[in-house]
Amino acid sequence: MGLPSRWRARRMRILDDVDLTLAPGEIVGLVGESGSGKTTLGLTLVGRHSPTRGAIRLGGAPLAPGTPTQRRLQMVFQDPLGSFNPRRRVGDAVRLALDVHRIGLPSAREDIVAALFAQVGLASEHAVRFPHALSGGQLQRVAMARALATRPDFIVADEPVSKLDVSVRAQILNLVRRTNAETGVGLLFITHDLAAAQFLCHRIAVMYLGRIVEVGTPEVVLGRPRHPYTARLVAGAAYDGAAGTDPRLGPREACFYAPACRRRQPGCFEARPPLDETGLACFHPEGILPGAASAERTLPKGHRDAVTARA
Ligand SMILES: Nc1ncnc2c1ncn2[C@@H]1O[C@H](COP(=O)(O)OP(=O)(O)OP(=O)(O)O)[C@@H](O)[C@H]1O
Ligand code: SF4
Ligand SMILES: [Mg+2]
Repeated sequence: MGLPSRWRARRMRILDDVDLTLAPGEIVGLVGESGSGKTTLGLTLVGRHSPTRGAIRLGGAPLAPGTPTQRRLQMVFQDPLGSFNPRRRVGDAVRLALDVHRIGLPSAREDIVAALFAQVGLASEHAVRFPHALSGGQLQRVAMARALATRPDFIVADEPVSKLDVSVRAQILNLVRRTNAETGVGLLFITHDLAAAQFLCHRIAVMYLGRIVEVGTPEVVLGRPRHPYTARLVAGAAYDGAAGTDPRLGPREACFYAPACRRRQPGCFEARPPLDETGLACFHPEGILPGAASAERTLPKGHRDAVTARA
């Protein structure tokens, strides 16, 4: 007997045993089709969603939402205008972040705001404007300044350029790269744009229906994709997943990609392929794997002192 659909919906796991570690200073790209859970993972990482199981760890210590250390994880959103209070001058928005987290002496905070604006390539005259008086690109710069205000270890940037004009996207990507190099802040960069991910990221994680199916350097993941889903993503082919029931509502002990996979075997419906030490979750990967095991070796040093999401 089938369950009513509303019960089924409740039983669906949006994230299913995601285990992702970001090394200090690392930019990790998170790619995957719409609805795969990228934003949910980002929100979980910064404490805006609580994982039903598992934990977020920073430098090995569990991170509870709302703890003082939570300021070490910040988020930049997709919609530049929607992420600011329309009635607050953008300089005051950045200042508020300093006040809330008691960063610097109150008398020094104005100078800190000015320095943050300079850091993201804005003049102090921009600080006195209201959000609607700035362009999308300028607002994303302010969003970066606000995120940097708390001196975070990591920033989750959820499609930060997708709503911007194509002409300013490269400027913001360059800003993100420069900021990473200058401050050492790590980033989870959520994007649909594989070229942007290749440009920016030290590692790329591919998500499919709430699971990470492949992770590694851009050279391995985008250059020699091993997971059939990644291969399809890289080829730019339209998604042709099985119509009908969402695989997440079926048995968990299965590869969720099996209904759509051209390399599937009967066993793919009976067991979940684990994410192995080379960063692949597939029983019958594409091609031969020369050097594929390098995905783990190329992790920056010190990756034990990292942020880890289990959800
Ligand atoms: N508030 C919510 N309540 C219930 N389900 C939700 C909620 N937010 C998202 N979902 C569901 O969770 C799944 C993952 O959504 P999420 O927004 O994390 O995906 P995404 O990978 O960020 O997609 P996109 O690329 O479109 O931004 C989707 O199936 C979505 O319908
Ligand atoms: S485990 Fe099987 S169904 Fe899943 S991606 Fe690999 S080959 Fe395809
Ligand atoms: Mg999203």
